[in-house]
Amino acid sequence: MAGKEPCYQLLVNEWRKNQDYTPPAYQLLVEEWTKLNVGCQVPCYQVLVQNMKQGLKEPPYAVLLKEWQAKQAGIFNPPTRVGKTVLLATEKAFAAEAVSKIEAVVAKAGYVLKKLENYKSEADLCVAVEGSDAMIIRSDIVGQKVLEKANALKIIVRAGAGFDNIDLPACTSKKIVAMNTPGQNANAVAELVFAMMLTSARNNFDGTSGFELAGRKIAFYGFGAVARAVHRIAKVFGMESFAYDPYVPKEAIAAAGATAVDKVEDLFNYQYVSLHVPLTPETKESINKVLLSKMPKGGTLINTARPEIVHEMELLELTKERGDFCYLTDVAPKNLDDLKLAVGDKFGKRIIVTKKKMGAQTLEANNNAGVAAANQIVNFFEQGVTKFQLNPF
Ligand SMILES: NC(=O)c1ccc[n+]([C@@H]2O[C@H](COP(=O)([O-])OP(=O)(O)OC[C@H]3O[C@@H](n4cnc5c(N)ncnc54)[C@H](O)[C@@H]3O)[C@@H](O)[C@H]2O)c1
Repeated sequence: MAGKEPCYQLLVNEWRKNQDYTPPAYQLLVEEWTKLNVGCQVPCYQVLVQNMKQGLKEPPYAVLLKEWQAKQAGIFNPPTRVGKTVLLATEKAFAAEAVSKIEAVVAKAGYVLKKLENYKSEADLCVAVEGSDAMIIRSDIVGQKVLEKANALKIIVRAGAGFDNIDLPACTSKKIVAMNTPGQNANAVAELVFAMMLTSARNNFDGTSGFELAGRKIAFYGFGAVARAVHRIAKVFGMESFAYDPYVPKEAIAAAGATAVDKVEDLFNYQYVSLHVPLTPETKESINKVLLSKMPKGGTLINTARPEIVHEMELLELTKERGDFCYLTDVAPKNLDDLKLAVGDKFGKRIIVTKKKMGAQTLEANNNAGVAAANQIVNFFEQGVTKFQLNPF
């Protein structure tokens, strides 16, 4: 087996030449490696075989190869654990291209990627998280139950901006670093904002006369990554921007070409108000009837942030009272049926609601956020980088 030119070498050569992974070659390599490692305590090939069964391809192959070569050179010391195991847990799966890019980053680091995509229950996640060193999630809920099973977890990265789906205090008490990937999907959300604004301004293309966005005013509640991306497009459309964000210096808002306002209510002097704040105790239900009533004719509220930021009962009341008010949202309100009833055939024009949250659902945003999450995990383990840590400790 360990002859001059063991067959694994042929396989490796072939693989390198064609850059073409074939399962039999991999299987053979695993078998040979296994024979050489009889007696190891928890040989890493078992982890690899397990992952292979789950459809994992190149990463374990590369890791296995490295170990095989080390063994051949007589320097192999059987590990009790191979690299790191990164769990990709996505109830709403990433685009296939994004998954392969994540796999490539993880493989390059010599880590193993374990996939749990389109899973159906928290129980599935509880099983998968056991033994994982890191986890990449999207809107997946990570609460007490999941964290209880996270016996090896050191880091969770939310591939996206909002992180209200992670129980941060529970992470902190278990010394698990939680991160997000801010800004990676900002352009995707900004384009959706404009898609909804244009659809509404042109009466959902029903053949009637609409209006143009040029010269109109838009005000941002929060001036972070998404708001700035919307503002960038608004400038090109010839719109004027205003913003309220107490955590961003007024000079920085001005430098971006928008006008800073002093209070939340000042935003409601303008036709469009677009919400781009995180959900916090301060922002929860902060958009109410008093504010919305201030809006000028054709007042339009845009919500791509979180449904809970708007007081939904008062939104309904206002929608019933004001025939000109519009609500464009990517985060469906709980009382959607009542809103539909309130606007009748104007649904799809005055009230626009995406079928499901889809602001970040573009190929580019998937790739950007997924790859950023994988890189953040590798940089955390390899270099101790904690940039974007949400729960410093
Ligand atoms: N629809 C989607 O798919 C989608 C995608 C990305 C982000 N989002 C949501 O959009 C929102 C903004 O995302 P982002 O990437 O721009 O985040 P960000 O962190 O870059 O920006 C948020 C901004 O809100 C400001 N802010 C916080 N509290 C505030 C307050 N009380 N008053 C005013 N400003 C306040 C912060 O200073 C920050 O500048 C978040 O709620 C996020 O979850 C939704």
